[in-house]
Amino acid sequence: MSDEKLYIVLMGLPARGKSTLAVRLRDAFHKSGITTRIFNNGNLRRTYLPIGETSRSEFYSSENSAAMELREKIARINMEKAKSYLCKSGQIAILDATNARRKRRAVIEKYLNDHPLLFIECVNDDEEILHLSIQEKIKLPEFVRLKDKAAKEFLKRIDYYRMIYTPLKVERNYIRIDSLQNMIIEEKHSDVIPFYETLRDYLVTDEVKNLFLIRHTESEYNLENRIGGDSPLTAKGHKQALALGQFFKKKKISYIFTSRKIRTMDTARTICKRQDDCRIVSLKEFDEINAGICEKMTYEQIEKNMPHIFKKRGADKYHYVYPSGESYETMKPRITEGIKKAFFLNRHADNIMIVGHQAINRMILSHFLYRREDDVPYIFVPQDRFYHIVSTHNKKLFELKRYE
Ligand code: F6P
Repeated sequence: MSDEKLYIVLMGLPARGKSTLAVRLRDAFHKSGITTRIFNNGNLRRTYLPIGETSRSEFYSSENSAAMELREKIARINMEKAKSYLCKSGQIAILDATNARRKRRAVIEKYLNDHPLLFIECVNDDEEILHLSIQEKIKLPEFVRLKDKAAKEFLKRIDYYRMIYTPLKVERNYIRIDSLQNMIIEEKHSDVIPFYETLRDYLVTDEVKNLFLIRHTESEYNLENRIGGDSPLTAKGHKQALALGQFFKKKKISYIFTSRKIRTMDTARTICKRQDDCRIVSLKEFDEINAGICEKMTYEQIEKNMPHIFKKRGADKYHYVYPSGESYETMKPRITEGIKKAFFLNRHADNIMIVGHQAINRMILSHFLYRREDDVPYIFVPQDRFYHIVSTHNKKLFELKRYE
């Protein structure tokens, strides 16, 4: 066992994915046999103080000096706990808090000076994600009591932190990460940081424990062999959706991500009905490939009326851009964005479900499974089966399963 030790100190505004990152890092380090513990200021605060006292935004105002004092005290207790953990058998102590103020971080650096210390700042300013994350946060007991004022209070709390927020700059060692994209924005290290390469790799990897990738069930256009459009499900499609709901009823699905098209939303709705607490989030990023001037046509009509398009697409399907539409290649950035959004929102759960379309699911599959570009538009995406994907550091699985 290595005798190296490390403090990881998280920072970032509320709802930026710090606690999820802390858990992800702890689990990944544990799997590598590195003893790691999280010291979370929010959790400690909730054990010391009645929830009613800390749920209101005023508790976080820098003008509330009594509350400020309490919060600093809690930070200090966690610092002491972290120090004594590393003094004993612990190898990595993760301090999870906003740590928005430079002054607090200076105290941390000064007090935790017996081992290297690395700050990690989580940054993410995507409004849509923030909005959806807040909807999740306010389900916690801390906010439930605020009823319809919960979201407003939480936003006010964020504003209070924003007023005192200074990004990492002068600290000796840090990584600034876009916590939505899992992308490092900036890094600096003045000291030798143990476990650095492993840590870096964990930070930028999209991990998924169970992704159920489903194609919407049979639609009217599928029956007519028409592309695009926004047609509803057929009677067979509704039956298939019921079978999917039945198949997944024992799995806990918190979110189902769909496109904005009726066929994916209706498939998801039927699955959702068999779940206890499930939300559908429709993302524009998962809308089917836009076939431009060919939308709503059958392949036969395209071949007959626009043979040049049919031929050109057939010759290079991945790169061919439909006039006024898209290609597989041009869809790639939005698919990546959709995957990042879905994973960020679903970050507390083990199971994630996406109900997409033929071309969309091919692109999602190719995000995890290496395929030559030429082969991506031909990946098999049937409607009577789904893909179960696991992609973690220790396990890769792609299974095509029947649900009927
Ligand atoms: O046919 C169903 C469909 O989802 C169409 O809406 C879409 O244009 C097509 O599949 C994409 O598949 P391909 O790239 O093979 O034409």
